[in-house]
Amino acid sequence: MNAITDINQLPTPAVIVDLPTVRRNIASMAGYCRSHGFKLRPHAKTHKSLRIGQMQMEAGAIGLTVAKADEAAVMAGATDDVLVAYPAFDAPRAAILAELARIKMVRVSVDSTHAVDHLAEAARSAGTTIGILVDLDVGFHRTGVQSSDAALALAQHVDQTNDVRLDGIMFFPGHVFLPASAQEKPLADVSALLQETIQLWTRHGLSTSIVSGGSTPTARQSHHVAGLTEIRPGTYVYYDANCVAGGWCQLEDCAARVVCTVVSTAVERKCVIDAGSKTMTSDRRFDAPDTAGFGLLVDMPLARVSRLSEEHGEIELRGEAVPKLGSRITLIPNHICPCINLHDRIWFREDDGRFTRGVIDARGKIH
Ligand SMILES: Cc1ncc(COP(=O)(O)O)c(C=O)c1O
Repeated sequence: MNAITDINQLPTPAVIVDLPTVRRNIASMAGYCRSHGFKLRPHAKTHKSLRIGQMQMEAGAIGLTVAKADEAAVMAGATDDVLVAYPAFDAPRAAILAELARIKMVRVSVDSTHAVDHLAEAARSAGTTIGILVDLDVGFHRTGVQSSDAALALAQHVDQTNDVRLDGIMFFPGHVFLPASAQEKPLADVSALLQETIQLWTRHGLSTSIVSGGSTPTARQSHHVAGLTEIRPGTYVYYDANCVAGGWCQLEDCAARVVCTVVSTAVERKCVIDAGSKTMTSDRRFDAPDTAGFGLLVDMPLARVSRLSEEHGEIELRGEAVPKLGSRITLIPNHICPCINLHDRIWFREDDGRFTRGVIDARGKIH
């Protein structure tokens, strides 16, 4: 088969990932980290791709972050250093991670002694050691111990347990989903709590060689958080419509887009595309959940994707001419991470403009 260079030749719906844009996003975040002395451990949840993970490693990342044990096993194909930033608290997950720790650096963030004990037992059986970061809740209220004192108590438990190694602190500032101009106060609070925790650990002779934080919205404000050693943004590699709405990127930074075909124009003031919730997810835009529609229509600024069925996306035309049946429409999903996870394959647009098939290597690894 001849190389595809024309977007109109792709079977739709097609997720396309523009590699020159990805490279630019990776280089830009790596540059920010270098200039502020932070290490970068990107979260692979966004791309779940060995190829993109390798690109991040080649650009200076120190390792990759994942959520699930099975993701760790896959993404270890792109790095020697994996952080599982998720409560891998049970024996089956611990066993997978301990096996991996025999050949790679494996760290896990925990918020319970229960998790520490399982990981230690699994590491012992596998004849290895697992690094531990204590997960501290800095305001997102999803996981994480609830105070500096609780962080110290858990750290002391890790320190006194064989076969695990206390490496530091992990936190996720997911509540700071705000424009950069509104982040000063919440990040100052995060910074104060971290300082208190680091000082407490130091007074008790415990090491915080790693203080791992960061998300895409806060990534470029990380220098306002004292004590940080590394950040873990994930979405920045592709960005999405939420990131555009939050001002965390520009439209041209959005590297992943969904190309669709108009399959029906039978109903007045509407056209229907071949991409519904099974292609894009039903995620709403964070700042305008009821009005913004399901994704950003790149070439139709007035129109909006007003309703999704599984395989249909209904575009409400508000001033635009009715597109021709069979014509192509490009969308940027509201939330790119779960969208990518829906697809067996994507299309990479290479530097020379050719489209090549890409694999979502860690797709569906939910254990
Ligand atoms: C623990 C953890 N770290 C890092 C990230 C990456 O954040 P973002 O998606 O904003 O890049 C996430 C995202 O969910 C996360 O849960």
